[in-house]
Amino acid sequence: MLTIKNLSKSYSSSEVKALDGVSLELKPGEIFGFLGPNGAGKTTAIKIVTGILPFEQGSVSIAGRDIKTDPIAAKREIGFVPDTHIIYDKLTGREYVDFMADVYGVPLADRGARAEKLLKLFALTDSFDAPIKTYSHGMKQKINIIGALIHNPKLWILDEPMTGLDPNSAFVLKELMREHCEAGNTVFFSTHVLEVAEKICDRVAIIVKGKIVVTGSVAELKSMSKESSLEEIFLSVAGDGSFKLGTGEAL
Ligand SMILES: Nc1ncnc2c1ncn2[C@@H]1O[C@H](COP(=O)(O)OP(=O)(O)OP(=O)(O)O)[C@@H](O)[C@H]1O
Ligand SMILES: [Mg+2]
Repeated sequence: MLTIKNLSKSYSSSEVKALDGVSLELKPGEIFGFLGPNGAGKTTAIKIVTGILPFEQGSVSIAGRDIKTDPIAAKREIGFVPDTHIIYDKLTGREYVDFMADVYGVPLADRGARAEKLLKLFALTDSFDAPIKTYSHGMKQKINIIGALIHNPKLWILDEPMTGLDPNSAFVLKELMREHCEAGNTVFFSTHVLEVAEKICDRVAIIVKGKIVVTGSVAELKSMSKESSLEEIFLSVAGDGSFKLGTGEAL
């Protein structure tokens, strides 16, 4: 569903590579968690996959469409929830969701029921006709999520989606992610909330300084590292380096 091959990226203002030979293969029907410390390259990789950022080396394909050579077709398959709410805040929630549905060519008959279900789940129905600029942080996040799901994308990408959501909404989001995958789609999301990753991800990858350090199911990672939780595994590969994958022993 998503194939990233040998992806490298440098920002013009920096000598260091933000991404250095990143490869990932995400299958239909899986929830994939993208973990790593601040500045590791998660948002950079996500922005490349969604066609926002250019890159100098490697390739990205979404449902068989190359993001460089076939960008419109590739983007059609993606729903994206960014980590910032740069959103058309003069629009009402309804206008924004309608705009997203128009962009992706969602038939009028389908968008109504889909939006209604999501609004109800996120307790946003009463604010749907209010301007987005009057929304709270969490409400903006939720309208972003609804806008990203309105065309039922094959690949749903979210950058730190739990930030700012109340416990109820975070629960709803996790259920939606699971539901989306069970329908044969793929979810790719970055998070610092390791409990969430451990609970809902079929597989995770940990990226450190632009390189993927480890990929696998949480169970696989545990058996590789002899650590007992994802948090310990994360600390062992991305923390102070006092533990080594493969041994679980302090150096
Ligand atoms: N616009 C930019 N210009 C220059 N360097 C950038 C830019 N955006 C990110 N970087 C650098 O690229 C590297 C990766 O940043 P990125 O935002 O992808 O990390 P991240 O894993 O998403 O971190 P976080 O967990 O804090 O969101 C960092 O070293 C960062 O300083
Ligand atoms: Mg980020």
